Amino acid sequence: MRTATENRYIPALRFRWLTRWYDSLMAWIFPESDVHHALIESANIRPGQFILDFGTGTASFAIRLKQRHPLPELVGLDVDPDALKIAQQKIEKAGVYLELVEYDGEQLPYPDNTFDRVVTCLVLHHLNPMQKRRSLRELRRVLKENGSLHVADWGKPSNYMMRLAFYFVQLLDGFKTTKENVQGLLPKVFHESGFAMVTESGKVDTALGTMRIYSVFGTKSIDVHG
Ligand SMILES: C[S@@+](CC[C@H](N)C(=O)[O-])C[C@H]1O[C@@H](n2cnc3c(N)ncnc32)[C@H](O)[C@@H]1O
Repeated sequence: MRTATENRYIPALRFRWLTRWYDSLMAWIFPESDVHHALIESANIRPGQFILDFGTGTASFAIRLKQRHPLPELVGLDVDPDALKIAQQKIEKAGVYLELVEYDGEQLPYPDNTFDRVVTCLVLHHLNPMQKRRSLRELRRVLKENGSLHVADWGKPSNYMMRLAFYFVQLLDGFKTTKENVQGLLPKVFHESGFAMVTESGKVDTALGTMRIYSVFGTKSIDVHG
């Protein structure tokens, strides 16, 4: 039976009791270092920037970003207190500094025009179509006008094997939340959420499907009720 928490959001491995195994599973089955490096490269990080890692989870990506670029200020934000507890322990062990913030999944606790960069890895496929758009509109709101969003997530499979492999992710994380990813529709979702320009800067085939890296820029006026 799914708990109230799991109805509000999908934890890293779908069920709360599996979160403690997330890092071990990823280390075993997922090319984290390739994906993280591609995402960091795409973000063009500079000293003095203020960066948000949206859906930081157990902070593997945030720690790698901090190790590569110690100077920018980084906030790791997530809805899951269990993942954030693991993140805190890993951050202390790694000896890096970044702030962790828990939020309610609705409104980001930051004013407009706060961040130079938002980075997010493996989060959008946890959100249903409405949550994707609502979260992206919030990310757009907290980004500075010349800021940019950098996304690594499941995308259109690059071949038939990649499509087959992705059924495992869909069985775990759900078909509704992953449908637009696997159909290659994330660029359309970014546009519908008010971003003006999307470029795909990389692709990594994995044992679970094809990861795509997007850089998303600019704002356009949108219907706030849309
Ligand atoms: C597969 S994990 C990815 C974690 C981390 N970014 C990584 O690459 O290892 C997905 C994360 O998205 C988080 N999440 C789910 N719904 C969310 C929401 N509405 N807002 C922010 N994070 C969310 C989950 O709690 C989980 O930590």
